[in-house]
Formats: sequence, structure tokens, C-alpha cells
Amino acid sequence: MGAEYSCGILTMSDKGSRGKREDTSGKNLQKIMEAAGFKIGSYQIIPDNEKIISTTLIDWADIRELDLIITTGGTGVSPGDVTPEATRRVIDRELPGLAEAMRRASFKITPHAILSRAICGIRGNCLIINLPGSKKAAQENIAVVLDALPHAIYKIKGGTADCGR
Ligand code: MTE
Repeated sequence: MGAEYSCGILTMSDKGSRGKREDTSGKNLQKIMEAAGFKIGSYQIIPDNEKIISTTLIDWADIRELDLIITTGGTGVSPGDVTPEATRRVIDRELPGLAEAMRRASFKITPHAILSRAICGIRGNCLIINLPGSKKAAQENIAVVLDALPHAIYKIKGGTADCGR
């Protein structure tokens, strides 16, 4: 299903980046994306630091040329949550439908879903998707958009086949 597209998993966690917390969310996302046919090209845990996040996103999109980057964590309303700001800095085009769909579906599971400020967008040929940080929240959110991702990446790369399905 993932047509062997490459995928990076980037976990935002101050504690995780210092080895003080296990990254269950990022590891679970790796399994989900592999099962969906994606090739995991990069995996890293970094602190909630806007500059480090945006620099890593640029490196993975431009130098490593990943097709897809999935971030987990730092989308909420705590003072240290800066993933959406870092993502907005680096994307050329926003893809609001993905984040809208994830929040809409998640709101049926928990009213706290609207506290995620996650955004999704495109940098060059790379699709970037923010997910919340907990293993449960990340899994519930990615499930909403997973089926649309191969076609999205195909179109981002300039694919011209008809969209009819
Ligand atoms: N979405 C789903 N589907 N399930 C959840 O449990 N948790 C919410 C929300 N989105 C949640 C969810 C909560 S409690 C918060 S605070 C926000 O995601 C932001 O999470 P983050 O700061 O870890 O990114």
C-alpha cells in the first residue's frame, strides 16, 4: 500500500531525547507504517526545541529526501509545545484536510482532541504530518489518514494519473 515510499518518524520529547523516557509512540508508529508498506528511512527522538525540530525537518526532506515525515508530540497547548510552529516554518504549502480529518475523527473518541494544534503540509516532494504525542493518540490519528497517504505522495511527486477511485 505504501508503494515502498520512505518514511521518517520524528519524536518530540525532552525526556525521551535524554534517555529518561521510552518512546513507545515513535516505535509503535514505525510498526504501523512498515505494516502499511512504507520503508522507515529515519528515526530520531529530539527535544521540544523549535530550531532543532525545523532543522531536522529540513534535513530529512531536502538532504535525505524522505517522501513522508511523521512527527509525534509537542502539538498541544503547554508552553513547551512548539512542533506546529517549527513545521509551519518549513512547509511550502499547508494540507489542512489531513489535520481537519484527524481532529474531527478524534473528537468522537475524546473531547481533548481539539487541544492538538497539529498541522500537515508539503516541503518540496515531502509530506509532513504532525501527530499528538501519546502512543494511543498518535495511533488513532494516523489511522484516519493512512489510506490516503500513498496517493497524496504520488500526487506531490507530480503523478498525473486520474484521482477517481
Ligand atoms: N487525539 C486522539 N485521537 N486521542 C487522544 O487521546 N489526546 C489529546 C489530543 N489528541 C488525544 C488526541 C490530548 S490530551 C492532547 S493534549 C493533544 O492531542 C496534544 O497532544 P501532544 O501535546 O502530545 O501533541
